[in-house]
Amino acid sequence: MEYLRQLREFVGHRPIIAAGATLVVRNSDERLLLQLRSDTETWGLPGGAMELGETLPETARRELREETGLEGGELRLLDVLSGPEYFFIYPNGDQLYSVIALYEASGVTEGTHIPDSETLRLSYFSLDELPELESRTGLIIRHLREMSYFPRESSPARLAHPSAEYRDSFLEAMHEFQGEGRFLERDLTKMANDFEGYVIGLLRMKDRATQRQDLVPETRLWLVEGGEFIGVTGIRHELNENLLAWGGHIGYAVRPSKRRRGYGKLILQLALEKSKEIGISRVLVTCSPENVASRKIIESNGGILENEAEVEIDGKLDKKLRYWIDVA
Ligand SMILES: CC(C)(COP(=O)(O)OP(=O)(O)OC[C@H]1O[C@@H](n2cnc3c(N)ncnc32)[C@H](O)[C@@H]1OP(=O)(O)O)[C@@H](O)C(=O)NCCC(=O)NCCS
Repeated sequence: MEYLRQLREFVGHRPIIAAGATLVVRNSDERLLLQLRSDTETWGLPGGAMELGETLPETARRELREETGLEGGELRLLDVLSGPEYFFIYPNGDQLYSVIALYEASGVTEGTHIPDSETLRLSYFSLDELPELESRTGLIIRHLREMSYFPRESSPARLAHPSAEYRDSFLEAMHEFQGEGRFLERDLTKMANDFEGYVIGLLRMKDRATQRQDLVPETRLWLVEGGEFIGVTGIRHELNENLLAWGGHIGYAVRPSKRRRGYGKLILQLALEKSKEIGISRVLVTCSPENVASRKIIESNGGILENEAEVEIDGKLDKKLRYWIDVA
């Protein structure tokens, strides 16, 4: 980071181009090594920027040692990645276009170096159960699936953390939603230009410290299948006055082109499982009386109707069916 740090003294936060190396390390179970990064608090592949005078393999070996404590082994260049997708704005405002030499490191061994403060934790993950990913890592994993280095995502539809891995299908879905008059407040051009910023914002909603002050903590998850975005759910960890009166714990939406295929029922079923993990034992789910599909979804997931409430939403009188589901 020394070279970039010096450069930043001259250019401030302005966009720069930086070459670097990123490493793919897998254990004997084919699980992928990821580090919890201190700068973004998301999980990423180990790697970093080149220092003056280094070769890319030297950068790769140094970063591997500094960030993971692993040494030795064989390096194999998998690809070189660049372009607008690899633009990144760091939480401190620094803007960067990455040129990434992507290496596979095999046969590595534990060295004596203790990972530096850029690494909060290290862990191996199954490709079907990836944690909250830093945006470039999401893109790299998608790329490695496209070049058949990693298997294509073939697992059945599942809930995944928001990730740049699903950028294109998510943006297409947003256009579909806006076509039916939903989510009109979202500026899709801005979202496309800073998708990582958008994803980081979603991931931060789950912690009270980083969630908007007027909102309760909420876990946002995306229903994905075969590497494509299908729908979204938000699980609020607790109820405030409005949520108890009409909003409920869980919201969900399936993209218009994927409706009437059972994804609505599935997304609530999976969101209920997640609610239990979060520690909610009785889940409130609500819908408008005329939303036939949503009523069916809630009832088929065990919803017990408490009442039809007359409520005032944004100054307008409305009706909501309030259902409870025991998940304990
Ligand atoms: C409500 C929504 C999530 C349903 O998603 P979906 O993937 O189509 O749902 P499913 O395929 O699981 O269908 C569930 C049931 O509703 C029925 N259904 C779906 N759309 C319907 C419609 N437009 N009219 C009548 N019935 C409908 C299905 O046939 C199925 O019925 P079944 O139990 O008899 O088989 C989707 O329409 C949506 O995202 N709407 C906008 C957001 C929204 O209303 N969210 C819910 C907020 S409470």
